[in-house]
Amino acid sequence: MLETKILPTFCQSLENYQSYIQQELARQQLPQAVPLAIKTSFELAKTIASKIIKSGSIDFQDFMQMALYQTGLGYYASGNQKFGSGGDFVTAPEISALFAQSFAQEFMQVFQQTQSNILELGAGSGIFCVDCLRQLEKENQLPQNYYILEVSAELRARQVALIQEKLPHLIDRVTWLETLPRNFEGVIFANEVADAIPVDLMINNGSDKNSSVEKAQVTVTDDGFAFEWQDDTYSLPKVCEHGHKFEHRGQLSGWIKSLVEACQRAVIFIVDYGHSEDELFNSSRAGGTLQQYYRHHKTDNPLHLLGLQDITSSVNFTQAALAADGVKANLLGYSTQSMYLLAAGIEGLAQQMMESEVTSDTMASLKIGQQLKQLLLPEEMGETCKVLAFSKAIDADLDIDLKGFSLDNQLYRL
Ligand SMILES: C[S@@+](CC[C@H](N)C(=O)[O-])C[C@H]1O[C@@H](n2cnc3c(N)ncnc32)[C@H](O)[C@@H]1O
Repeated sequence: MLETKILPTFCQSLENYQSYIQQELARQQLPQAVPLAIKTSFELAKTIASKIIKSGSIDFQDFMQMALYQTGLGYYASGNQKFGSGGDFVTAPEISALFAQSFAQEFMQVFQQTQSNILELGAGSGIFCVDCLRQLEKENQLPQNYYILEVSAELRARQVALIQEKLPHLIDRVTWLETLPRNFEGVIFANEVADAIPVDLMINNGSDKNSSVEKAQVTVTDDGFAFEWQDDTYSLPKVCEHGHKFEHRGQLSGWIKSLVEACQRAVIFIVDYGHSEDELFNSSRAGGTLQQYYRHHKTDNPLHLLGLQDITSSVNFTQAALAADGVKANLLGYSTQSMYLLAAGIEGLAQQMMESEVTSDTMASLKIGQQLKQLLLPEEMGETCKVLAFSKAIDADLDIDLKGFSLDNQLYRL
């Protein structure tokens, strides 16, 4: 650690940092942060500032990596709530058990041709695992193993606690892994994990034909972290307008490749906010797709509220599909979340849920109707969230026709 005296003013003392955060919250009219969260953010700010002072400005990707995952301090690695109504954002498994139930129906199809194992990546609060196992138990189709690979030690502890509380009789089937398995057979599932993989921020400063791309670096000043732009050799995958900002998630291709290579015989589901490459380079997205969330508010700067806000950007599903194809995976389908869930049978599952609710019929149908709207409506998650599935079978082909792509399969768009 460098001497405190050479740290920039804004993070030279906890007192300075508290007023820096208070000003930022007031400027954006955001709710207060608890003192412990500000203290953690202060430690994170000092860690990143020290790194920059020591070695010079860093790529935004490295900044995002530390902001989200720095051990004990980063957004996903510290103790703040994150998910659900009291957190910063809501994910589909948090909205309704119907999401996990719909995927469980699909997993049962896969298990007819593979061993019945599930590997969930980035399991968040653990609620998808709970609802999926409940559904499979109801169908008498419990998997042999439910593996979870989670990079955040803090979230892993929460997952253990939730599964222990909700499904004590099934906890022995759940195993937390440190690394990807080898020769995996079954289903791999990742909801809103790819969008949490760090990105570089880029801008096209050339004309359509003569592109020149700059990449964002993060430096530090007495007033906080700041962007610097540097020429970069990255070549644009698509022609786009001068000034078009976009994100490049370099680690995505390697991540997809590693998932495919971990499998002997499996179907892999990637569910996330995202678009095809054509759509990402369309002029309607000239500002890029990077977003930050703090207590259900969109905030305006990824360099502020360090470790207190989530940072995310849309997944380039063309890049994901190309990476899978490059390691000989078989692309099965690509669809919007709404079309996928409808085809997978979410309405029938909702009907069953209503019939089994103990509350009054009207209350139950209102609640379930609200959940369906959030999962399915285009202006909610229905259209911006996508499902991509691909399979890998080393010995013989998997002859799998996933129900979820039976209404609409948009693989041609990737
Ligand atoms: C936005 S949360 C989504 C959580 C959960 N899947 C849900 O839908 O509620 C992202 C999750 O991915 C985890 N994560 C990020 N990168 C990961 C990686 N490379 N491997 C496994 N988990 C990862 C985070 O720690 C967190 O649990």
